[in-house]
Amino acid sequence: KKGQAWSARFSEPVSDLVKRYTASVDFDKRLAMFDIQGSLAHAQMLEAVKVISPQDRADIERGMAQIQSEIQAGTFIWLLDLEDVHLNIEKRLVELVGDAGKRLHTGRSRNDQVATDIRLWLRDQIDQLIELLKQLRRALATVALEHSSTILPGFTHMQVAQPVTFGHHLLAYAEMFGRDTQRLIDCRTRVNILPLGAAALAGTSFPIDRPLVAKLLGFDGVCLNSLDAVSDRDFAIEFVSACALIMTHISRLSEEIVIWMSPRVGFIDLADRFCTGSSIMPQKKNPDVPELARGKTGRVNGHLVALLTLMKGQPLAYNKDNQEDKEGLFDTADTVRDTLTIFADMVPGITVKADNMRAAALQGFATATDLADYLVKRGVPFRDAHEAVAHAVRECETKGCDLADLSVAELQKFHPSVQDDVHAVLTLEGSVAARNHIGGTAPEQVQRAAQTILTALS
Ligand code: ARG
Repeated sequence: KKGQAWSARFSEPVSDLVKRYTASVDFDKRLAMFDIQGSLAHAQMLEAVKVISPQDRADIERGMAQIQSEIQAGTFIWLLDLEDVHLNIEKRLVELVGDAGKRLHTGRSRNDQVATDIRLWLRDQIDQLIELLKQLRRALATVALEHSSTILPGFTHMQVAQPVTFGHHLLAYAEMFGRDTQRLIDCRTRVNILPLGAAALAGTSFPIDRPLVAKLLGFDGVCLNSLDAVSDRDFAIEFVSACALIMTHISRLSEEIVIWMSPRVGFIDLADRFCTGSSIMPQKKNPDVPELARGKTGRVNGHLVALLTLMKGQPLAYNKDNQEDKEGLFDTADTVRDTLTIFADMVPGITVKADNMRAAALQGFATATDLADYLVKRGVPFRDAHEAVAHAVRECETKGCDLADLSVAELQKFHPSVQDDVHAVLTLEGSVAARNHIGGTAPEQVQRAAQTILTALS
């Protein structure tokens, strides 16, 4: 009948397996610093409203300072018997400062305590991810600027479609990661609301000052319903959802990097430090990092489904189910943080093989649309122009040459509107330069777009 903080009510101890099954200290101890931060704010408020004495508060602060240094030094002893991070710290506090430690939990429950800890932790993680997304976008825009006029084939259906600039291609990802940043910023506004004061579920009979605690902890407001405050984890689900989209974008970029690096394609090379060799095949240099990132997208998607499922069956208010929110949430943040850190470093280390990109764009009739547009500008209806060019492409396929290899006379066979100036639009440079509008692939637009992003990030 000893050990647990709640054990006075019980007539027999739980079995070892149940103890392990219900304990969370192995993973929630990483919330320790936020737990202490929350407790210190709570104690300061309890003193301000005269529920505890200035001496109690001083004792609590002294004890917490000691606990903090024990945790940092790695000498703090975490006990499974004490279930979770909250009870481990509280028990040690009582050991160190006695009755003041026992008064800390006045007007509070682990239910609002843990919800507060998670929000503090998550706010910190979101800020880190926002910074990392910035670094990745800066890297993408920098390489894009460098390659604003490097041409490669753009694909649809994995078939050569039209020439695009490599800078333009990279800036597509800068846009995606820009929206991901917006999502995190938006999510943060709902994370940064204080649950403390909800106590177990109904609030507390003590004259607490919740706005004061919110202010001390840097929250933008307080949860307005105590039942909601302790029970919902929608803010965490939103976060994991935003992370799943980040990983989805990372995964698409990874897939492209893997394809570009295949010797069959040969568009880029990655710095050696992001690749590994094969233990059997000496010639190999494998793009392990992008492949692994593509794979890790699956675990984040899994955490999203797990959290949604965790929530859906819970009646109000707090249920122990919610203890299961942490591992997936922690792993999501860890996975995305590591992935973004590596990608921000990997992108500037991409070696562009411009000759191979160019050669690939010259195959596959990438300028066929340009020829059709050329005819349209000379009065031919687009559908007729489309058909005339399709015939020309077939002819080229038979001959084994590109559209640009046909003479003016040969092209005129497909449509009489073809003039001497036709070859200007059949070149790759002419094709990309012509798409000179906001959002277009022209080098001038790419430079402008990259500069805009770099300026916004500086
Ligand atoms: N370890 C618990 C969690 O993660 C803390 C709250 C437990 N509250 C309770 N009444 N059992 O959610």
